[in-house]
Amino acid sequence: MRLTRIAGTGHYLPENIVTNQDLEKLMDTSDEWIQERSGIQERRFVEPGTGSTDLGTMAARAALDEAGWDPCDIQFIIFATLSPDMYFPGNGVLLQNQLDLDEIGALDIRNQCTGFVYGVSVADAYIRMGMYDRILLVGAEVHSAGIILDTEHRDTAVLFGDGAGAVCLEVTDGSDGSHLIWHHLHSNGRFAEALCMYAPSARQRPWLTKEMIDEGKIFPHMNGREVFRNAIVKFPEVIMEALEMQGLSPDSVKMVIPHQANERITEGVRKRLGLPNERVFSNIANYGNTTAASIPIALSEAVKSGLVERGDLMCLAAFGSGFTWGASLLNY
Ligand code: ACO
Repeated sequence: MRLTRIAGTGHYLPENIVTNQDLEKLMDTSDEWIQERSGIQERRFVEPGTGSTDLGTMAARAALDEAGWDPCDIQFIIFATLSPDMYFPGNGVLLQNQLDLDEIGALDIRNQCTGFVYGVSVADAYIRMGMYDRILLVGAEVHSAGIILDTEHRDTAVLFGDGAGAVCLEVTDGSDGSHLIWHHLHSNGRFAEALCMYAPSARQRPWLTKEMIDEGKIFPHMNGREVFRNAIVKFPEVIMEALEMQGLSPDSVKMVIPHQANERITEGVRKRLGLPNERVFSNIANYGNTTAASIPIALSEAVKSGLVERGDLMCLAAFGSGFTWGASLLNY
């Protein structure tokens, strides 16, 4: 039987650390407010000139090292981001070029915070059906380009950070107990405007105007309470959906890796699943919300720090803009 396993994980964070105290100097906010509402203490911002493809390439190289792959082993690329280097083409082909790969296929995923989980499901399907044996999946974001560090925009400015994570996925027969199990994907476009960026928009002529820029339509808009209300329900719901389909309960999971949206959301997931802190991974204090990059960064850190071992049951779960949400169950 053809199944898929994680052969290697990697992550990369820019060196520049921006603390809550740094933000206090730029806007009317406080370390206390940010920590109490989000759990975030610091995040990383790139220097201008560095894009999400650059971060993704660094993370990909780390994942290739851990997998013991040469770049030429990659047969297909999947790249999830909402902060691409160009409007088009997507980061997938830019990464293909940066890694100097053969003319392999590259697919871009635009599912925001759920992008990595959607990407895992696509890679697993391609591998199971025999289309490819080895796929590189990357999640990377440069949010610092898309937030405004002032009081008017402080609701989003304090939450987001830059970073990248990657996994190498390969075919296995599953005999060593290390393989992806199944994926559960959802969306509800009724909430599209609860967390979105309006411009540039091909509905408008021209699709980017000075007015749009002046009105801040080129920056993210978020209804924080709506996001919170939905996330707190949908995260545990989709994790339970994944477990129940396999006849499992939360007790059997060694580690849940939720998208690092906000520590209060992660705390809600822990409580609803009845899991102790150490079985629901959190690193948001250090990096903020890195959207499509947060799960692969967390996964890579969990692997490198020995928190998960081969064969352990894990659940990757995400919720975000769209709204989109999903979960992947796997034996690491
Ligand atoms: N610093 C200080 N004060 C702030 C800040 C800030 N950075 N941002 C907002 N405030 C103020 C508001 O202006 C408001 O002031 P007012 O009462 O005088 O009007 C007050 O704090 C309370 O604002 P609320 O929006 O009611 O604050 P709330 O307690 O809802 O917390 C938050 C806001 C943290 C955004 C919360 O709604 C939340 O956690 N939402 C989830 C959003 C999220 O996680 N987004 C991540 C992206 S989506 C994803 O990854 C799933």
